[in-house]
Amino acid sequence: MKKALLASTATVGAGLIASRTASGQPSIAPTRGDIAILRFLAAAELIETDMWDQYAELGGLTPGQLPVEAAPFTPMNSYQNAFMQLDPDGPQYVSSNTLDEQSHAAFLNAYFESIGAPAVNFDEFRTLPSSQADGAKNIGRLTNLMNLTVDTSWYTRYRSSTNPDFGATFPQALKLINVPGSPRTNADFELSNIQAIANIAAFHFGFIEQGGSSLYATLSQKVSSPEVLKITLSIGGDEICHFLEWVDFSGNSVQPPVAPLAAANGLPAFPNFDVKVNPLLQTNLIFPVPCEFISPQLPKCAVIRPTSPGQIDAMGAVKALTADGLFIGQSPKFFNLLAALAVEADAAQRTIY
Ligand SMILES: [Fe+2]
Ligand SMILES: [Fe+2]
Repeated sequence: MKKALLASTATVGAGLIASRTASGQPSIAPTRGDIAILRFLAAAELIETDMWDQYAELGGLTPGQLPVEAAPFTPMNSYQNAFMQLDPDGPQYVSSNTLDEQSHAAFLNAYFESIGAPAVNFDEFRTLPSSQADGAKNIGRLTNLMNLTVDTSWYTRYRSSTNPDFGATFPQALKLINVPGSPRTNADFELSNIQAIANIAAFHFGFIEQGGSSLYATLSQKVSSPEVLKITLSIGGDEICHFLEWVDFSGNSVQPPVAPLAAANGLPAFPNFDVKVNPLLQTNLIFPVPCEFISPQLPKCAVIRPTSPGQIDAMGAVKALTADGLFIGQSPKFFNLLAALAVEADAAQRTIY
């Protein structure tokens, strides 16, 4: 009797850990909801990859920054130099983030193939123009980095002890409305305040990666299969890694010696946030400040937020990316497909094994 009980506990226990059968399939098959969640995440990763590819082509590491023997030599441009004012390793981090996103998208589509599920392919929507600046590939894009309206409330949210899951709202740290995150033409490289374009990108990087952090944490709560949960927790963890670097990066854009930067050439000002004491704007923070979590009766806790439905779930992510201006110029068919993937992901329900 005792032996039988132990055996059944062991069987249930094995089901809770991601594992594969001898034929290479998941021991517990992903549910329809799990696949819907991963399909939306694959779409999000294709979008992230397209965006980061564009940032990396102009602002990432180029051969000019490698040792001399790694010719052909490409001199660093002023946008890369501006990133280096935010962190001496800035261009490397831009390239690294890009490689990570490429790996996320490629992995998820290969995973679908491995379990006999359909891949997500957005190639027909790669229709938006590239930057005309030297260094950018002249290819069709999924995303538009030239007219961004960046929601900068993530900056104040992560410095606040309140949580959007309890209805809290947060002021914008900066007004970044209809601005470019990347040089549009070679003329932008010559601007005396090219730093402003790099600073916009810094806040945009933070916006994108906090979104990824919340999206994975929110959708993970609806996942049923241990293997799919392993995927969402593990890729989601990498999104958080990205986010934290950009918290530091953007904080450096609003403190000396980079700030203050006056508005000029149609680009916004970046004030020195250190001039006034305001905990919501403190520049030297990188980790989430402890906040309300689960219940106001419980002690405050340093966590990723929001993670409740109706915030940065799949549809919340689509709305946020759309408001960001990332899809300006995209076709109705693209919006319809993205919305359909989001609705299915948000409808997933966790099955308790
Ligand atoms: Fe990603
Ligand atoms: Fe990411």
